[in-house]
Amino acid sequence: MTTSFFDTMPRIIGHRGARGLAPENTLVSFRKAAEVGTKSIEIDVTLTADGVPVIHHDMDVKRCTDGSGPILLKTFEEIRDLDAGSWFSDQYRGVRIPTLEETLDCLADLGISLNLEVKPCAGWQVPTAETVGQFLNTHLKDRFPILLSSFDIEALVTIGRITPHLPLGYLTEAIAPDWEKRLSEAGAASLHVQREFVTEAAVRDVQSAGYKFLVYTVNDEDEAKRLLDWGVDAVITDYPDRLLPLI
Ligand code: G3P
Ligand code: MG
Repeated sequence: MTTSFFDTMPRIIGHRGARGLAPENTLVSFRKAAEVGTKSIEIDVTLTADGVPVIHHDMDVKRCTDGSGPILLKTFEEIRDLDAGSWFSDQYRGVRIPTLEETLDCLADLGISLNLEVKPCAGWQVPTAETVGQFLNTHLKDRFPILLSSFDIEALVTIGRITPHLPLGYLTEAIAPDWEKRLSEAGAASLHVQREFVTEAAVRDVQSAGYKFLVYTVNDEDEAKRLLDWGVDAVITDYPDRLLPLI
């Protein structure tokens, strides 16, 4: 049995790998994160039309590939044809959207831990969470610690039933007045808040209630230092190379 994610969670987590340094949510981005010393990364998982869990942030492939249209309406074969690297730089031409399976193998090789954000297309929360949960039960094999997170409570509840041994994190932009009820409903052990909405008092309240407090997406060193001084458990950054020297 591997250790729980929070037992080894570093205070700096790479966003979509190392999003500022390489094309986000690709194997080269995960390797780049590890190369600069990152010990954990956050990435987004969603489904293709034929139910293959793949790593991609947007519902439409337009921004980060040479194609267009909703990922949920494309088969894995169609997704595999897309170039997910040259939009970032010519140097990365031909980089592909990775499957969750390839990603797990890559992270096991790199020896880093994973915050896997379940990113369902709206309306597809349950199928996404079920497929990803079942996939992890078959393929993760305790190779490294993992934290599952989502903005969607239904997705968290669904995946939590399938993978009860894995910790859950609830994502939000602002902190709702009923945050504690939401965390409890979701079965979450951590609250992940958008940087603009974090206050020192909120960090204290959430941690005093027994939850971890994570902040995304922090790219400025002074801001990261302030948040770390306030005691946030981790910050998620596009530039782990910039923030790692702080810890
Ligand atoms: O998990 C933190 C962060 O990734 C949530 O927002 O839109 O970058 O997936 P987003
Ligand atoms: Mg994310």
